[in-house]
Amino acid sequence: MVDFIVRVEDLRVWFPVARSFIDVLRGRAKLYVHAVDGVSFFVREGETYCLAGESGCGKTTTGRTIIRLTPPENVVSGRVLFKPKKEVYEYIATHVPEAIVEEEGAVDVYRVPSKYIKPLRREMQMIFQDPFGSLDPRLRVRDILEEPLIIHNMGEGHEERLERVIKALELVKLTPPEEFIERYPHQLSGGQRQRVAIARALILNPRFIVSDEPVSMLDVSIRAEILEILDELRRKFKLAQVFITHDLALARYVCDRIGVMYLGRIVEEGPVDDIIENPLHPYTRALVAAIPEPDPENRKKLRELRIKGEVPSAVHIPAGCRFRPRCVAFDENAWVQERCRAEEPELIEVEPGHRVACWLYSKA
Ligand SMILES: Nc1ncnc2c1ncn2[C@@H]1O[C@H](COP(=O)(O)OP(=O)(O)O)[C@@H](O)[C@H]1O
Ligand code: SF4
Ligand SMILES: [Mg+2]
Repeated sequence: MVDFIVRVEDLRVWFPVARSFIDVLRGRAKLYVHAVDGVSFFVREGETYCLAGESGCGKTTTGRTIIRLTPPENVVSGRVLFKPKKEVYEYIATHVPEAIVEEEGAVDVYRVPSKYIKPLRREMQMIFQDPFGSLDPRLRVRDILEEPLIIHNMGEGHEERLERVIKALELVKLTPPEEFIERYPHQLSGGQRQRVAIARALILNPRFIVSDEPVSMLDVSIRAEILEILDELRRKFKLAQVFITHDLALARYVCDRIGVMYLGRIVEEGPVDDIIENPLHPYTRALVAAIPEPDPENRKKLRELRIKGEVPSAVHIPAGCRFRPRCVAFDENAWVQERCRAEEPELIEVEPGHRVACWLYSKA
């Protein structure tokens, strides 16, 4: 049995498509965006698990759902298990015993009503892609960082909270803290703002964080610094992390294991080095081929694997293997079999820890 901190099981998150008056009148069926459509994975203590894939494949929705930011009515099936600290586990066990999954020692996150969610929230935090949008422009840095402490009743009085705010600024290397504490977000650079966002996520001493493309909107020159800070803090606090990125080169640098998503599902999963050195799924192979390659000989070889076409709509998911329309387009040889049109492949283990969802690897 895997000792996980977070485990996602067969999660489906669908959003209804707004219907026009005429659609309703004519009785047209309700349509849904299948943002997440059967996703399972786990994250261990201290581990970074990457969710990768093109824009629109459901990475952000998965991350938001884990920390319970998705409204329960959109979570149409599956569950998210989380192992909080002992005192939070006991709090949930006392107030919402039906949310406890005893054999796993975990909490079923979506069975906890909003009324009792606060202690759980403290333990699961998110760092967003856009550091400007995620910070309230009307608040100074000190208030941005003190606010979560007040909400979660942490720190005895203002003085002690201020101490914590100063420590948090030091942790993200915004030093000396006095120089930054009175500033508003617009008085900070993009990198400094993202450090404040990291400090805000970590000030509550969480067990688990979702980092959603945390450097993709920053200048290339400061990305490495931010990633280093994040990594240092992750190690220091033994944080479990889901790191979301569309960039496989970055994934290799940051994470331990990776799940490659396509149209709401994980199509390949395994230790990041395995996946990048030996990608099996045609989609992963195309993504790996798109990593910038300095060697011109290799570049020529990889060009043959360039994927064509666009990601189809997440409303009308292709029948059978959801990658089939593009699998056909990028390889005219006979990869695509009759079965690909009829049945959706499940993830199967091909080497220890390396799983792929493609009929090419099915022994059945
Ligand atoms: N609140 C929402 N309402 C309707 N559709 C949504 C909502 N959030 C995301 N989507 C749709 O779900 C799909 C997955 O989006 P997202 O999770 O943001 O993907 P990614 O982070 O991989 O780019 C997209 O088609 C997106 O348009
Ligand atoms: S199952 Fe078939 S269509 Fe899907 S990725 Fe594999 S070969 Fe391509
Ligand atoms: Mg996203």
